[in-house]
Amino acid sequence: MIPRYVYEEIDSTNLEALRLAKTGGAIKAPFLVCAKKQTDGRGRSGRTWLSDEGGLFFSLYLSPRFEADKASMLTIVMVMAVAKAIKRYLSEQSLQADASCEFAIKWPNDIILNKKKVVGILTTLQLPEQDEVAGNGYGVVIGVGINTNQTNFAEELADKATSISSEIGISILDEILLKYIEEYFVQEYTTFEKEQTLSFLKEDYEAMLVNAGKQVRVLEPTGEYLAVAKGINDKGHLLVTKESGEYVEVYAGEVSVRGIYGYVD
Ligand code: BTN
Repeated sequence: MIPRYVYEEIDSTNLEALRLAKTGGAIKAPFLVCAKKQTDGRGRSGRTWLSDEGGLFFSLYLSPRFEADKASMLTIVMVMAVAKAIKRYLSEQSLQADASCEFAIKWPNDIILNKKKVVGILTTLQLPEQDEVAGNGYGVVIGVGINTNQTNFAEELADKATSISSEIGISILDEILLKYIEEYFVQEYTTFEKEQTLSFLKEDYEAMLVNAGKQVRVLEPTGEYLAVAKGINDKGHLLVTKESGEYVEVYAGEVSVRGIYGYVD
């Protein structure tokens, strides 16, 4: 089992993981930081991740042996581990997690249930010139927020976020879900370390990809365009064809993808 640092409340498990990694090698990667509540939860593109009690918030700190430019692919490795873990959890409760494709992935790493977000992932690199890193080379923090048991969401989020328990009608035992996530992630990470591409996960990922074959709005810092999404390549880039017929490989970085009418559709 990966060593865990568990808090009732913390600013952000991602920030705490970065701080722990700087303790001069006393704490070795890999390790997990978990909290019941975050007061400064961080989301993608500088957004806030609301982290009231009732959700599962954790960050995994790794010190990979492969080159740092491959580390962003770990977000896809993690989203598949989380998706498989949720499916397993729900199927053990005899609930059909994937009935009518209601449970899906929105590129690159949101998990949605009934078209609303239940999981977000934020991956951050800690480069050696920025900080002292536990172990050799660089570090990676993969922060995962899962809306497991929250009952209320702020008004501005209510139409695009939900919790698993609100949708499925059962309470989720975070401890068990986290154990399954860890198991799947360790399995997949072992393969990823050897292969260093996402080809081994591509099929499973695309089978859950809500955007596949659909029109999407690609939002870049410099503007937006409409396109049809096909799937992903071995690096996790979204493959789209613009209305002009131009084929583009969209890299997650600062880019978001929406449905043409809303968050998903
Ligand atoms: C997103 O915007 O979709 C990513 C959200 C990531 C939230 C998780 S919660 C645990 C970890 N700690 C943080 O501050 N953020 C991540």
